[in-house]
Amino acid sequence: MLTPPLSRPHTTVILAMTADGKISDVGRSGVTFGSSVDYQHLEACVAAADAVLMGGTTLRSGGTAMRLQSPQLLAAREAAGTPPQPVQVVCSASGTFDPALPFFRQPIPRWLLTTTEGAGFWQTHSGFDRLLTVDSSETGLDLQAGLTQLRGLGIERLAVLGGGHLIATLFELGAIDEVRLTVCGYIFGGTAAPTPVDGLGFSRDRAPRLRLLEVKRVEDEVFLQYQVLHEDPAEEKDSDV
Ligand SMILES: NC(=O)c1ccc[n+]([C@@H]2O[C@H](COP(=O)([O-])OP(=O)(O)OC[C@H]3O[C@@H](n4cnc5c(N)ncnc54)[C@H](OP(=O)(O)O)[C@@H]3O)[C@@H](O)[C@H]2O)c1
Repeated sequence: MLTPPLSRPHTTVILAMTADGKISDVGRSGVTFGSSVDYQHLEACVAAADAVLMGGTTLRSGGTAMRLQSPQLLAAREAAGTPPQPVQVVCSASGTFDPALPFFRQPIPRWLLTTTEGAGFWQTHSGFDRLLTVDSSETGLDLQAGLTQLRGLGIERLAVLGGGHLIATLFELGAIDEVRLTVCGYIFGGTAAPTPVDGLGFSRDRAPRLRLLEVKRVEDEVFLQYQVLHEDPAEEKDSDV
């Protein structure tokens, strides 16, 4: 039987996390804390993607996107016939960003996934190469429809670089296939510090389940690769009989 084509990209989350499970400090600053090895790992994951997705707060706190710079990775993309840089897609219902952010001067393709209202400013200001509007009467922004649009625009492999709010919605939609976490030798603490998955949380019976595919240790960091176990609707139906 033929497998129906996915209506969304294959989606991999890539994050650095402290040993106490935080992805930033209590100030929610754009502080980076991974080693140079983690940077290379992240760059390789980004190079394997057609597009990168990040939440509005992540862009506002860091001010830039990860631009590929490794000559080897750029050469590999060229050899594969892919554009030098993956598309940087920012998810933001408000569309509110300072046009002076360094992000808007980086030589990278930039798309904005937003609402009709959020797109307003950028229709008359340069900054984004493409505006994707996906309104929802319930949640403001229809992220599922956004993923479908990305797939329709040729994005097959999507790297999600945070933050916890965006990733929570993606998990709620069942739209994450892989999680790559680097556990770094820091403790940030603080209930207000963001974690890989924020939002409302899941009770244990609804919690997404992961299969550990790989563990690698380099000095004080541990690189974890998980596959997200998606429920097979056919199996679920069979078990009801
Ligand atoms: N350690 C790491 O690897 C790593 C990676 C990434 C980020 N971070 C850190 O994580 C923090 C940011 O995470 P965060 O959870 O606060 O924010 P976030 O997920 O980056 O962004 C949240 C914002 O994105 C937009 N958004 C996300 N999901 C949406 C949805 N389903 N519908 C509509 N809009 C949506 C909204 O933008 P608008 O408000 O504009 O509407 C929302 O306010 C920062 O401190 C950053 O440094 C760490």
